[in-house]
Amino acid sequence: MTAPPRNVAVVGSGYVGTTIAACLADVGHEVTAIDIDESIVEQINAGEAPIHEPGLQELIASTAGDTLTATTEHDAIRDADVTFLTVQTPAREDGSLDASALTAATKDVGEALADVEDYQLVVVKSTVFPDVLESAVVEPLESRAGPIGESVGVAVNPEFLREGTAVNDFIDPDRIVIGADSDTRAIEELRAVYDRLYDLDSVPVLETNRKEASLIKYASNTFLAAKVSLINDIGNICKEYGVDAYTVAEGIGLDDRIEAQFLRSGVGWGGSCFPKDTAALVAGAKAASYEPPMIEATIEVNERQPARMLALLDHHVDVTDQPVAVLGLAFKPGTDDTRHSRAIPIIEELLDRGATGRGYDPRPGARTAMEERFDSLEVVDSAQAAMTDAVGACVVTDWPEFSELDEEFDAMAEPVVIDGRRIIDPPETVIYEGLTW
Ligand code: UGA
Repeated sequence: MTAPPRNVAVVGSGYVGTTIAACLADVGHEVTAIDIDESIVEQINAGEAPIHEPGLQELIASTAGDTLTATTEHDAIRDADVTFLTVQTPAREDGSLDASALTAATKDVGEALADVEDYQLVVVKSTVFPDVLESAVVEPLESRAGPIGESVGVAVNPEFLREGTAVNDFIDPDRIVIGADSDTRAIEELRAVYDRLYDLDSVPVLETNRKEASLIKYASNTFLAAKVSLINDIGNICKEYGVDAYTVAEGIGLDDRIEAQFLRSGVGWGGSCFPKDTAALVAGAKAASYEPPMIEATIEVNERQPARMLALLDHHVDVTDQPVAVLGLAFKPGTDDTRHSRAIPIIEELLDRGATGRGYDPRPGARTAMEERFDSLEVVDSAQAAMTDAVGACVVTDWPEFSELDEEFDAMAEPVVIDGRRIIDPPETVIYEGLTW
C-alpha cells in the first residue's frame, strides 16, 4: 500500500455505490457518498447501511463520521480527485437502457466541476452502452466541465459485484477493467485509488478503451446468463430422457474450458442485472440492425422454464381452487430483492389456473414486495404455513432452510413437490419432481 489517500466522491448509493464507498473509506480514502435521497444520506451518516449486504453494516459503522460522509449536495465533488458514478441504469419497456438518472447525475457532476481548474477523474461504474456513454456521460460532462482528457478524465470501470456478496467481490476481484482511451492520468489516478485496496501486481488489470470496457460488462453478464440458459436447455432434454442434468453438468464442468460455475440448471435467472443487460444487448444489437440469435435464445429459454415447472405440477395435480405453496420469492438466496424473480411468472401462472398462491420467503422484505405486487397472493411467514393443506409446492429459490424441510411435507393435502433449484431432500412419502433431473 503506497499511494496516499485520495479524496473520493461516489454518486449514487445503491448496493454498488454504498459498497464501493464503504470499502474505499475503510482503506483510508476520504469518501463522500452523494445521493438525492435524504433518508439514505441520514442512514449512512448515522453509521447504518441503507441496504442489506453481508459485511456492509460493519464497514459503515466503523467509517461513518470518520473517512465516510454522506450528503445530498454535489458541491463535495469539487474537492474530489476521483468521482465514481454508480447511478442505476434501468431498462425501459422495450429493453433499451433508461439513462435519465445517469444523465441527470452527470450534469450535476459537470456543473460542480465547471470552474475547477485541476484535472479530475470521473469513473463510470454504471452499466452503459457505448452510445449512451457518449450521450449520458461524455457529452454532458464535456459541455460543462471542459475537454475530456484535459480538464476532466472519464474512465469506464465496470463492476462485477453480485448482490449478497458485493463487499467480498469488491475486496477480492478476479479482474479490474479500466477503459480510459489511453488517458494515462486517468489510469494512474484509478490505480492509485485501488492501490490501497489491492495488490495490483496480482489482480489482473485490463486497460481498454471506454467502449470496450462498457461492452465487457454486458458481455460478462450475457455470457453467464447464456451459460445458465444453455444448461437449462440441456437440462430440459435430460429430464425428457430420465437423465440427471446435475451429473451431466459435473461431467462437463470438469473440462477447464467450460468450468463448473453457473451450471446449476432449474427455473432460471432473475435479478436486477441479467434480465436488464441481456435485454439491453438485444436492443442495442437491433438498433444497429443486427438480430443476435444466441442472446435472444438465452432470454427465451429463461422465459420458458417457469412454464415447464408448472407443466410438471399439472401432470400430478389439478390446482384449480386449491392452495399451492411457492417457496422462495427473492431472485436468489442471500437477498430480499424480488426484481425479475422467477417466482413472479410462477405465481402469475398459478393464479391464472385459479389456484390460491401461497408465497413464503425467509426475508421479510421479499414477502412485503410480493404482497404489494399481487393482491390475491397469500403471503405467509413460514414454509410450514405455506405448505399446510397445499396440493403442491413449487421451490423457486435455493434458500438453505428448504433443504431442512421434513415434517412440513406431512401437512400437505397432496405431497407434490416441484423443485426448481435442487434444494429439497424429499422423504419417500413425497411425489418429487426435479425440473431438470
Ligand atoms: C450478476 C453477476 O453475477 C455479477 O458479476 C454482476 O456484477 C451483477 O450481476 C451486476 O451486473 O451487477 P447477481 O445478479 O447479483 O450478479 O446474481 P448472480 O449470483 O449472478 O445470479 C443471477 C441469477 O442466476 C440468479 O437468479 C441465480 O439463481 C441464477 N443462477 C446462477 C442459476 O440459475 N444457475 C446458476 O448456476 C447460477
